[in-house]
Amino acid sequence: MIQKIITEYNTINEIEDLSEEKKVLLLRAKENTFKAYAPYSKFFVGAAILLDDGNIINGSNHENAAYPMCLCAEQVAIANFHMFRNEQKIKSIAISARTNDKMIDTPVPPCGACRQILLEVAEKLKCDYEVILQGETGPIYVIPSVKSLLPIQFNSSNLQ
Ligand code: THU
Repeated sequence: MIQKIITEYNTINEIEDLSEEKKVLLLRAKENTFKAYAPYSKFFVGAAILLDDGNIINGSNHENAAYPMCLCAEQVAIANFHMFRNEQKIKSIAISARTNDKMIDTPVPPCGACRQILLEVAEKLKCDYEVILQGETGPIYVIPSVKSLLPIQFNSSNLQ
């Protein structure tokens, strides 16, 4: 039997066409690109997590001269979420990126490892949440389900 997996997302052309809540979140992710420590790749990533109670948690990438030790922005945002400990569920995460030498005009998706990390928390909170992506400019992807970004995922249920 052949089965299909579908990832649905909306493409929005202008930030002004987002709801106020999503717009604020995406702008925060963009702001967070300026908090990145990325002297090696010079690829500055910002993430912002919106909680059910309206609080926003921040993240940006942090690199190291020992390259494999680099922390992605999403990973830092999720670690900050755990430190925040206010027991709220996650509504959305917005991710953006910029470089110094060229305008990023396509959405920058979370890497595979970050998808695993984003799903661990969805699993823990027993919720799914939205992912909002934009480069510095260009189209915005609104993906309603983070789970749809990593189908057939390995999680705690596989350890039982
Ligand atoms: N990076 C992120 O922050 N998130 C991702 O999902 C992909 C990559 C960072 C890691 C590294 O600091 C830089 O982008 C270039 O790969």
